[in-house]
Amino acid sequence: MSGNKRVLVAGASGYLGRYAVKEFKSRGYQVRALVRDPEKIKTPGPHGEPAIEGIVDEIVKGDVTSPESLKDICKGVDIVFSSLGLTAPHPLHTSYDVDYLGNRRILELALQEHVSRFIYVSVFNADKMMDVPSIKAHELMASDLKTSSISWAIIRPTGYFSDMGRFFSMARSGHIFMVGEGEKRTNPIHGADLAKLCVDAAEGESREIAAGGPDIYSFRETMEMAFTACNKTPWITPLPFWLAEGGLMVTGLFNRNLADLLSFAVEALKFDHIAPAYGTRHLKEFFSELAAANTH
Ligand SMILES: NC(=O)c1ccc[n+]([C@@H]2O[C@H](COP(=O)([O-])OP(=O)(O)OC[C@H]3O[C@@H](n4cnc5c(N)ncnc54)[C@H](OP(=O)(O)O)[C@@H]3O)[C@@H](O)[C@H]2O)c1
Repeated sequence: MSGNKRVLVAGASGYLGRYAVKEFKSRGYQVRALVRDPEKIKTPGPHGEPAIEGIVDEIVKGDVTSPESLKDICKGVDIVFSSLGLTAPHPLHTSYDVDYLGNRRILELALQEHVSRFIYVSVFNADKMMDVPSIKAHELMASDLKTSSISWAIIRPTGYFSDMGRFFSMARSGHIFMVGEGEKRTNPIHGADLAKLCVDAAEGESREIAAGGPDIYSFRETMEMAFTACNKTPWITPLPFWLAEGGLMVTGLFNRNLADLLSFAVEALKFDHIAPAYGTRHLKEFFSELAAANTH
């Protein structure tokens, strides 16, 4: 029950953030959306995530790397939900700047304004990937949140369908370079299914919630499914991990931020990511929807 509570959604223009806005609204919350670019939320996102301009109650413009732009974002707010994170390389800012320092700034403002609960989205299996800069940054934030005086929930999802959408884009181009043999398995989750879980976490005890989707596939099976969805014969070239890691080292000499973000994609392929299953949406259907959208 929302009881007409007010929630700040940070990362509202992103894949998960848009579904979170929609879910909070459907349950009667008043939603304030923190976005960098209000234009962006006027149209749906690239993986079918909804346009939200028409449904949010309030839009505030801010960038977590500019503290002065965040003034008053938590004023009058009961709950903060943050799926704010750096998922594409930035020329100046690192995961540490955005995922950690940026989210911590929001936490500090939430504490000042006596917000009652903070829901933060980190990553499943983070403990196995602590050498990856983006994971370390998420976990610094998670740790500060847990030791703060606010009531909290930390969501730990496997990959999102939007992330699997990258395989779809590569399959559509006709070829995928796959790091490793692709035999590790995961159960990715749709943003709308994950958003339900995130909003369920708005009430109750402080807790961590690991979550994946209903179907488990190996990475190779996922890639093959993407090829099938776009009516192409699978053409997948495996790259040994040593070669990918060598490539990352060379990339890092020219573009440290890109190499740091890509290191997650390589590390994540080394083991299974199977979290408790939630949701009803299936990856196969998601790929079919992407294929249908691309034929128009
Ligand atoms: N994708 C996955 O498979 C996956 C799996 C597990 C966990 N996660 C984590 O879940 C979170 C959300 O993922 P997602 O796929 O929804 O990411 P996304 O689509 O890239 O959304 C990220 C959001 O953060 C915002 N943001 C980035 N830098 C910002 C800044 N300096 N100031 C203000 N806002 C900023 C983005 O704004 P703009 O729209 O302006 O860029 C966007 O709204 C991330 O922290 C990610 O690491 C993702």
